[in-house]
Amino acid sequence: MKIIFHPAHSVGKADRMLYGHFLEHFHRQVYGGVYDPTSRFADEEGFRTDVLEALRRIKPPIIRWPGGCYVSAYDWKLGVGKERLPNFDKAWRVEESNEFGTDEFIKFCRKLDCEPYICTNAGTGTPEQMSDWVEYCNLENMGRFARERIANGSEKPHAVKFWSIGNENWGEHEIGSWSAEQWGSLVRESAKMMLRVDPTLELSAAALDDLDWNLNLLRTAGKYLDWISIHGYWDGSPDGYRHADYNTVMLRTGERISDKIDFVRAVLTACGLEKQIKIAFDEWNLRGWHHPNIIDIWEREPKRREDKKFYEENVIAARNCNDINATYTMADAVFSAAFLNTCLRNCDIVGMACFSPVVNTRGAIFTHKDGIVLRPQYFVFELYANLLKETVLDTWSECVPVLTGEDGGKAVTVDAVDVAITYGAGEYAAAVVNKDPEKEQTVQFSMLEGAAKEMRIHTLNGPSVDAYNDIGQTQVGITVSEWVPFEGSIRFAPHSVNVVELR
Ligand code: AHR
Repeated sequence: MKIIFHPAHSVGKADRMLYGHFLEHFHRQVYGGVYDPTSRFADEEGFRTDVLEALRRIKPPIIRWPGGCYVSAYDWKLGVGKERLPNFDKAWRVEESNEFGTDEFIKFCRKLDCEPYICTNAGTGTPEQMSDWVEYCNLENMGRFARERIANGSEKPHAVKFWSIGNENWGEHEIGSWSAEQWGSLVRESAKMMLRVDPTLELSAAALDDLDWNLNLLRTAGKYLDWISIHGYWDGSPDGYRHADYNTVMLRTGERISDKIDFVRAVLTACGLEKQIKIAFDEWNLRGWHHPNIIDIWEREPKRREDKKFYEENVIAARNCNDINATYTMADAVFSAAFLNTCLRNCDIVGMACFSPVVNTRGAIFTHKDGIVLRPQYFVFELYANLLKETVLDTWSECVPVLTGEDGGKAVTVDAVDVAITYGAGEYAAAVVNKDPEKEQTVQFSMLEGAAKEMRIHTLNGPSVDAYNDIGQTQVGITVSEWVPFEGSIRFAPHSVNVVELR
């Protein structure tokens, strides 16, 4: 294939917040993930230093917390102060110790030099509770909550700039699911109170690719918003623990991703808000999280309600399947790179994306008692966050090879090669994904102005489409070439993610 571009023709600036992450109180993300005072890797504040070190390598610019479904019944006041009383987590039906709360989350973000992004409880929560949280985090010293923060040991405000109102309150699965009309007015009143506390906030609100929901939200509360939040998971395993194979996953790298962005862009434009509000894709992952039966146990298995053994094995213990590292293969790396390339090509409207989640469950990093495992998707962030430039160039492609197949009974065709070209300070960094499971693909880079003289290629790959990393096994990683003369065309290995530096 041939790709044509010119440094003067760009799509926009890629906000570094496209390489963000998400941390939820679910399974082993917080306790046993980022925070584990009993671990031999724990620092003086209980954070795992091996996890912190791996995260510093991928420079997370922003981390969203504490949920996700968890937040929709979360009382933030239980998670601050000297005495932390445990409570029953109604979202995930386990006990929450509240040992990790707002102050611990802020410490975690400061250790990574990244922006904290707090999602508020719009399920059982109220506009007052949301704005009280802003008082606790951002007021210097006025009022009860700022004084409480000081008494809890944080003299200076936490200065949390990014806040999301609610999680997926559009869905019945969420505690506190609202109609489109109810949502518009709840977001408006919450935003008003939060901005009364701190007018400098950047506010997001939960949305999805649904016209009625988004129109109500934007017409009623759009004037208060800087972001609109959407989520995406493309391979869910809500019941039996099964996963789409590599070829099926590749069929989900095309319109299944871009359609979500195109839809919200169209609604923002129709409301005349596309210059004011950006898309925060603040939960995304190829793999949906495995937590079977958490809701439909009552519908599908009503006779099981009293069956404690069934509950333990099929609701709680089933979550440990998320820890099976063989699940996360080159399909995860190739999909994640294709997702980020789609966001880069839409960087004029997509300003944030948070990989869901950062540690354990389906995350990029897996922790165990003797260390961590870096899953294939981790290395996509190591390449993109460290090598891609700020400006995303507009491109024209010819003779693009395709992959075809059937997914969900429908015939699907996607590009077999996905390229995003970034530019900065006279140098290029091209993110090139070869989705083809077997064939090398050649890309001819046609620069309409000047020409690069040399190149260096960073390649993320493994021996097969199903290669994965695990304890004591490393099949997937990054290799880097020397700087070599650039002759215009480059061959890319099958099932690989590449960043080509051109100068
Ligand atoms: O499966 C995890 C859940 O996915 C998150 O808690 C929620 O935000 C999304 O539905």
